[in-house]
Amino acid sequence: MESWMLMILVFMPGVWSGDWGVTFGYQCALRGGSVVMQCSYDYPWRDTVTQVGWSRPLFTSGTWRLHPLPSLPSPPDFEYLGNLHHNCSLKINNIQPTDERKYYFSFVTTSDRSTSKTYAYLSVNELIAVLKPSTVKEGDDFSLTCVSDCPTPTTIVWFKDGQKVPTPGFLVRREDAGSYFCAVLGQETVRSNSVTLNVQYGPGNMAISVDDQQFTEGSSVKLTCSSVANPAADNYTWYKRTDSPSSSSWLQVGWGQVLSLPSVEASHTGLYL
Ligand SMILES: *[C@@H]1O[C@H](CO)[C@@H](O)[C@H](O)[C@H]1NC(C)=O
Repeated sequence: MESWMLMILVFMPGVWSGDWGVTFGYQCALRGGSVVMQCSYDYPWRDTVTQVGWSRPLFTSGTWRLHPLPSLPSPPDFEYLGNLHHNCSLKINNIQPTDERKYYFSFVTTSDRSTSKTYAYLSVNELIAVLKPSTVKEGDDFSLTCVSDCPTPTTIVWFKDGQKVPTPGFLVRREDAGSYFCAVLGQETVRSNSVTLNVQYGPGNMAISVDDQQFTEGSSVKLTCSSVANPAADNYTWYKRTDSPSSSSWLQVGWGQVLSLPSVEASHTGLYL
């Protein structure tokens, strides 16, 4: 028997050994994506395969039982890519966390039937967007990375507020603020969680608005100061310029976003800042 085997290996490389057996590859997949479970099987060379099937154990009524995968070889979720010879590869689409389990292959030949003694294990992982730090000051460094527990040979794409953007990073601008997630290029159903980038900057675009430009004596006047800042300004200081023949200076006249002058009189005339 051994010398017969050796003959085969030496003189006909690439020919199957003729023993019963199934060989699987390890599979790591991302939720929402698809994966091909590589599989090959072997049987006595005189036999012809009449039936193939994949099954997985499910816990029902208190015990684990092997349940055949539905409707092989047809899509959408399970596609048999193998054949009735030696290839038993299975494609799983739209992978969900519940697909993380053991998969067994079985087949029937003209002489016997066989179920794999070992199994293919599908490990299902998430794509995770990591933002460090999540709050930055304009001009600071930040990093946005996309990680998973599967080896990721695939290209990653980034989305910001739902729109595809070039990989962000490095020095942050205020328009970079938003909600980001990453996805696998060409398989954009594989998406990460969303992370929010908060960009802080000091007040700018300051403006004063007045309810009217001319006032009669005794009326009340409100001056409102606005600015653009993140976080928003929490206080304002009001100044009024006082001119005397020798000098001019700025006098503090109040605090808060609104400066109220309840009853204007001639002495209120002036330049406010
Ligand atoms: C604004 O600042 C002034 C002076 O420090 C303070 O008296 C006032 O309470 C502050 N107002 C608010 C709304 O914080």
